[in-house]
Amino acid sequence: MADPRGDLERTILTEDEIQNRVREMADQISTEFSDVDELYLIGILKGAFIFLADLARCLRVFHKVDFMALSSYGMTAESTGEVRIIMDLREPIEDKHVIIVEDIVDSGNTLNYLQRLLKGRRPATLKSCVLLRKEHNSLDAPLDYLGFEIPNIWVVGYGLDFADTYRTLPFIAELKKEIYQK
Ligand code: PRP
Repeated sequence: MADPRGDLERTILTEDEIQNRVREMADQISTEFSDVDELYLIGILKGAFIFLADLARCLRVFHKVDFMALSSYGMTAESTGEVRIIMDLREPIEDKHVIIVEDIVDSGNTLNYLQRLLKGRRPATLKSCVLLRKEHNSLDAPLDYLGFEIPNIWVVGYGLDFADTYRTLPFIAELKKEIYQK
């Protein structure tokens, strides 16, 4: 089921490129956190579910996994950066070593909001691990672990969607402009 409707323009990152980079990121995290008892990974639904699953399975540090689901406040989000929590964490994160796991930073609104919110819950450390970052974003806080920088195009696959489709492609592809500009 790669592209039955002919919606994809070109492959941006192959399955091998993604898997190699995810292993490198997991190695880096494992080394940097080798002396902590436990890591707390927070995947941001829905986009991060595949990245988180692959990353976590390459980690050599004892860890727990939790999820949050967020949604932008419709059209206003671009100007105000407002984000709504649809599903919160199951546990408090106070004194935990937390890593936010995101598939993509686009405008930067979601991650900026999350970092502010979670910092207020007083974790021992708070890091961000992001697979893709679009070049134009306006992120306030630094990214601790970044997979790839990509141009400002619509990408799908490996968790990323168009109208909730294409999330399970093993590679990342550019969507044809006529598909989302209809
Ligand atoms: C995507 C992505 C990030 C956010 C990034 O989520 O997973 O959470 O957008 O965009 P930003 O940097 O402009 O805030 P989306 O709202 O599309 O939901 P999804 O993960 O359920 O597809």
